[in-house]
Amino acid sequence: MRPVVVMGVSGSGKSTLGAQLADALDVPFLEGDSFHPPDNVSRMAAGIALTDADRAGWLRTLAEQLRRHADSGVVLSCSALKRLYRDTLRSGAPDTAVIFLSGPAEVLAQRMAGRSGHYMPPSLLASQLATLEPPQADEHAITLDIRKGPQELLHDALAWLRSPDAP
Ligand SMILES: Nc1ncnc2c1ncn2[C@@H]1O[C@H](COP(=O)(O)OP(=O)(O)OP(=O)(O)O)[C@@H](O)[C@H]1O
Ligand SMILES: [Mg+2]
Repeated sequence: MRPVVVMGVSGSGKSTLGAQLADALDVPFLEGDSFHPPDNVSRMAAGIALTDADRAGWLRTLAEQLRRHADSGVVLSCSALKRLYRDTLRSGAPDTAVIFLSGPAEVLAQRMAGRSGHYMPPSLLASQLATLEPPQADEHAITLDIRKGPQELLHDALAWLRSPDAP
């Protein structure tokens, strides 16, 4: 059971799918955001986009988590918008499978607006979409459309992970 990273911009449904997937696979679910150091949390709360330098230590921490769970399996939710970030994650577990949750900006904005008690302000959505580098052919990745319901996304993710030739 190789590690799984669920990636995408804020509001794409990473935590929702990630938790369900981990449950179905009977492996731990790790919320990537919960590993941010306090400085990063403060910046995000103030609506300040993190720099790559701000993210570096956090991504190494997540890579270490993937490495620790490389044999037993784990699902990690992490925006992982840039190839560089995903390369850092894979430095801990090269076999990591990537599930990319993709959808239109209007749907993302709606979902972010519908949430309460969440520290990511909707103003960051545009910058996240500008930053986004979708997974490339060599990344063991699948792209899923967030306009599908949670059950269908879970089904598609499981079918892909369990198919003989993927990821
Ligand atoms: N497939 C779906 N269909 C409809 N609504 C969904 C779906 N998946 C998630 N949602 C809803 O969209 C909102 C965002 O989902 P979620 O919190 O899982 O996103 P996220 O990618 O983890 O965001 P963040 O990066 O900010 O943590 C939530 O209110 C959630 O209930
Ligand atoms: Mg989340």
